[in-house]
Amino acid sequence: MIRNIVITTAALLFVVAGSAFAQDATKPPVMSHDMAGKENCTMCHSGAMEGIPAEPADHEGRAVDTCVLCHAPDAEMQTATAAGIPHDLAGKDNCTMCHSGAMEGMPAAPASHEGRGTDTCTLCHKPSS
Ligand code: HEC
Ligand code: HEC
Ligand code: HEC
Ligand code: HEC
Repeated sequence: MIRNIVITTAALLFVVAGSAFAQDATKPPVMSHDMAGKENCTMCHSGAMEGIPAEPADHEGRAVDTCVLCHAPDAEMQTATAAGIPHDLAGKDNCTMCHSGAMEGMPAAPASHEGRGTDTCTLCHKPSS
């Protein structure tokens, strides 16, 4: 009886752990550690520290405050899809000018986006043509 309970509990823990780390290959890999004391992502993930996975080359120039937007387990990017950009980008560098919600007829960025700089938008939204 006790043995059965132990086995069942172990099996349950396995299922929970398995789903927490299950990784959708089309999504950014989820951080495999907690955040406490690890806010400075680039300190460890620049490639300079042995044994710590380096950020890929295409990450060059990404600010440290953008990392969690893709890699946190509860990041919007893990559950939602960033719409493609349906227009060309010539003369349209200032994304927030049009997408803040202040301009009529222009799709507003969702509330979750508050504080995201205009230089971050194309990390996630790519031209859709
Ligand atoms: C003190 C060093 C340190 C800091 C700071 C740190 N990490 Fe990590 N990170 C690690 C180590 C070591 C691993 C691999 C082993 C592990 O999971 O603990 C890892 C794993 C990861 C992985 C998984 C990589 C893979 O191959 O699956 C991601 C994604 C990640 N970290 C993102 C972040 C983000 C985002 C931040 C900032 C919020 C951050 N890390 C801060 C040391 C660090
Ligand atoms: C726009 C989303 C996005 C942002 C922002 C982002 N990443 Fe990533 N990251 C990804 C994706 C997607 C991958 C896996 C595909 C690839 O290799 O590019 C990845 C891969 C990684 C890896 C390699 C994991 C492995 O398995 O080897 C590390 C480490 C990492 N990122 C750290 C960071 C850090 C540190 C930052 C902030 C400076 C950051 N990322 C910002 C999307 C993002
Ligand atoms: C001059 C105004 C303007 C600027 C600047 C602008 N956009 Fe747009 N954007 C629009 C309009 C208008 C639409 C609606 C579709 C269309 O008319 O092409 C749109 C649509 C979008 C959509 C699709 C939204 C949806 O609901 O599917 C995304 C994503 C987007 N823009 C991202 C960006 C990014 C990223 C930038 C900066 C690099 C940017 N936009 C700059 C006006 C603008
Ligand atoms: C870390 C990735 C990321 C960054 C950076 C980002 N977005 Fe998004 N964006 C998303 C995701 C994911 C959604 C979908 C949210 C949802 O469906 O809940 C979204 C939704 C939107 C939408 C609504 C599109 C629709 O289908 O209704 C607009 C507009 C938009 N973003 C504009 C921007 C602008 C402008 C910036 C820069 C200031 C920006 N985004 C930065 C990931 C990102």
